[in-house]
Amino acid sequence: MRTVYVNGEFVPENEAKISVFDRGFTFADAIYEVTTVLRGRLVDIELHLARLRRSLGELALTLPLSDEALLTIHRELIARNQLEEGLIYLQVSRGVADRNFHFPAADTPPTVVMFSQAKKIVDSVPALQGIKVITLPDLRWGRCDIKTTQLLYACMAKEQAKALGADDAWLVKDGLITEGTSNNAFIVTGDGAIVTRDLSHALLPGITRGVISALLSEHQLRLEQRAWTIEEAEQATEAFITSATSFVWPVIALNGQPIGDGKPGVITQRLRQIYLDHALAVLK
Ligand code: PDD
Repeated sequence: MRTVYVNGEFVPENEAKISVFDRGFTFADAIYEVTTVLRGRLVDIELHLARLRRSLGELALTLPLSDEALLTIHRELIARNQLEEGLIYLQVSRGVADRNFHFPAADTPPTVVMFSQAKKIVDSVPALQGIKVITLPDLRWGRCDIKTTQLLYACMAKEQAKALGADDAWLVKDGLITEGTSNNAFIVTGDGAIVTRDLSHALLPGITRGVISALLSEHQLRLEQRAWTIEEAEQATEAFITSATSFVWPVIALNGQPIGDGKPGVITQRLRQIYLDHALAVLK
């Protein structure tokens, strides 16, 4: 059984309690982060905490815990659960208040929950074999840059992908791909450019996306941050997704048609290795 963190205490998972009036529960009025653990240590925790602060700020949510305190709780969870490889999930909600659409008083304490989850990150099957993706309309709200717990459409889209024999969905708004349901989307074009959507309110500024984008030029690879269509993706030589829990996974099919030769691409595999080297170098 896991030990989880709830509002200042470490408790067995079956003793953890959250109020039914918690605004995370009633309104999805909550922010989350997912940080990867490798070899019992954290990958890019500073970047995740920086994005957490930004998300909290966008929702006018205050969290009376310093980055140092949050880091300590992450490490304590890793130690108590003897986690070698997987993730730490962190959620901050606007706390407990009568069900009322208006925000409660600003001094309402937020609810802070954290737990660990074991998961194979390095030797994962999709990393080797690649995944199949379909496209679906992006029916999410207009502030996808904020990492809120409103993930119902992402769940529905993944279910729809599964029903159609695929692994995940890329979301399309105004004819242009924004991102995956829980990851950022990339294609490699015939002239060798690595293309991902430019940042805006339409997508999450993925930590993995940001790190990989910054590393490309060191490896003589060219990044283009811009919008792209399904047709362009169909003609890509390679495609892949990035996220904290996948790192880099090749995309080998789009809407039932192979991408490139239908196998994980060479540049994609190289980028996975580059990211893995980075992750191992920044462990905290
Ligand atoms: N998902 N886009 C969306 C919509 C996401 O939910 C995520 C992360 C990403 C990738 O961000 P990052 O590289 O910082 O993990 C992009 C997490 C992993 C999740 O919900 O489990």
